[in-house]
Amino acid sequence: MAVTVETVARASVQQDSSGERRPAPFMLVVFGATGDLTRRKLVPALHSLDRKGLLPGRFVLVGVGRRPMGDPAFRSGLQEGLRQFAGSDSEPWSRLVDQTCYFQGDYDDPASFRELASLLARLDTEHGTGGNRLYYLATPPEAYAVITDQLGSAGLGGDWAQGWSRIVVEKPFGRDVESARLLNQRMHQVFREEQIFRIDHYLGKETVQNILVFRLANGIFEPLWNRQYVDHVQISIAERIGLEGRGLYYEESGALRDMVQNHLLQLLCLVAMEPPASFDADAVRDEKVKLLHAIRPFDARSVLTNVVRGQYASGRMDGQAVPGYRSESGVAAESQTETFVAMKLLIDNWRWAGVPFYVRTGKRLPRRVSEVAVAFRPAPHSAFRRTEAGRLAPNELVLRIQPDEGIGLQFATKVPGPAIRIQDVFMDFSYGAFGNEQSEAYERLLLDAAMGDSTLFTRRDEVEAAWDLVTPVLHGWGRVDTTDGVAGGAVGNRGVPLHAYEAGSWGPDAAGELLARDGRAWRKP
Ligand code: BG6
Repeated sequence: MAVTVETVARASVQQDSSGERRPAPFMLVVFGATGDLTRRKLVPALHSLDRKGLLPGRFVLVGVGRRPMGDPAFRSGLQEGLRQFAGSDSEPWSRLVDQTCYFQGDYDDPASFRELASLLARLDTEHGTGGNRLYYLATPPEAYAVITDQLGSAGLGGDWAQGWSRIVVEKPFGRDVESARLLNQRMHQVFREEQIFRIDHYLGKETVQNILVFRLANGIFEPLWNRQYVDHVQISIAERIGLEGRGLYYEESGALRDMVQNHLLQLLCLVAMEPPASFDADAVRDEKVKLLHAIRPFDARSVLTNVVRGQYASGRMDGQAVPGYRSESGVAAESQTETFVAMKLLIDNWRWAGVPFYVRTGKRLPRRVSEVAVAFRPAPHSAFRRTEAGRLAPNELVLRIQPDEGIGLQFATKVPGPAIRIQDVFMDFSYGAFGNEQSEAYERLLLDAAMGDSTLFTRRDEVEAAWDLVTPVLHGWGRVDTTDGVAGGAVGNRGVPLHAYEAGSWGPDAAGELLARDGRAWRKP
């Protein structure tokens, strides 16, 4: 028997007798519900939460979209999505039958929102969801501000006497620092910061959450985590996939906006931030913001010297010919959009002064792999100088985010035999050791938003600080909107080269040169 732990009117969390926490009854209202995200990620995540007993019994999913469609067609589209994307969770989901409905509306039309308000009020009464509303913006980003305004005008946002209301916003949140600020201002006219949940799905991954646990729960690494012992850090998010039909979006976005501003910088924050005083949402995010502010800003010169951008040309992967970026559908023949970025970042604070952080991400690279590699300073060589020991390699700690989730530590060992010969060996931990399948990032994030925990979501000042860092790079590349409305792929490159790389390679040679200049090389994961 569930017992609410907060006041009944605003309850976000229920706890049962075994101590298991789950959200109080609520309604999930997804805008852009006929899009890919709902079918691929949200509904499979809800279904899986339900199977684990983590979804409250009193729950309704309302899909909102522009496309005319009846409830049955909407439900069967979602069921089809489960079959395609939910793996073992693909059996028919009973809640799609009587706890899901579709509302067709126009985001620009106040009348649509008034109608939506009456529908939600009726569903609340019918399903006993207590007036608790989780809105989810899964539309193209241009619609975020107008939907928020309309929710406000229809009396659906803000503080709400009947229950709680919160809004989840998908990335990208803005296109540069200016647009992110404006969007924040617009959203704050309707919702308080505590009600806004800006998603970065990387934060929902177990292995990403483990970065802080690993750092802060293990006394042996903490003393080493600084400029005295760390030589440099490499963070890579490599993808094999190309555009997957997202050409129109990607042309406007490019790798810097799509991956660096959010996922890569979040990984960097978790690796480099100071330990928070507690795991409270604000304590954690305060430290991340401080770190973002400590990263040395780019200027016209460092955009040229410390950033490399690339675009994949045709190539071969697994023996198959793969088209180049400019031949993908939705992409301009002369597109200047980058599909690869490598950067050298410097953190000007007490802990990291002088330690370079090299980050890279790209599409059509040889392997799908996300990892953080911490290279420690090499040991002094002197003890082995009269032996057959070769050059000592630095110890390396690799946090494998995905796939093959785990942690590896490389260290030197004596090869058995009379002579002193030294070889690198690896100590390895694999997440498979826990035996249970890992939850999808969206499960955790939906659950946290429904329970009002914003630790794994990006705060207003955090998203602006991340844009602050990358916006000068966009300027340097000529990829910010101009007053004549030209944006994205069509804009010239202001003299910063866009290097072609073969699909199936590890990116342009210039990325290798970025490290070679410092006497280092990228890991080949
Ligand atoms: C998304 C990007 O945010 O992250 C995609 O828009 C990218 O371009 C994806 O493919 C990668 O996510 P994951 O979880 O597969 O590493």
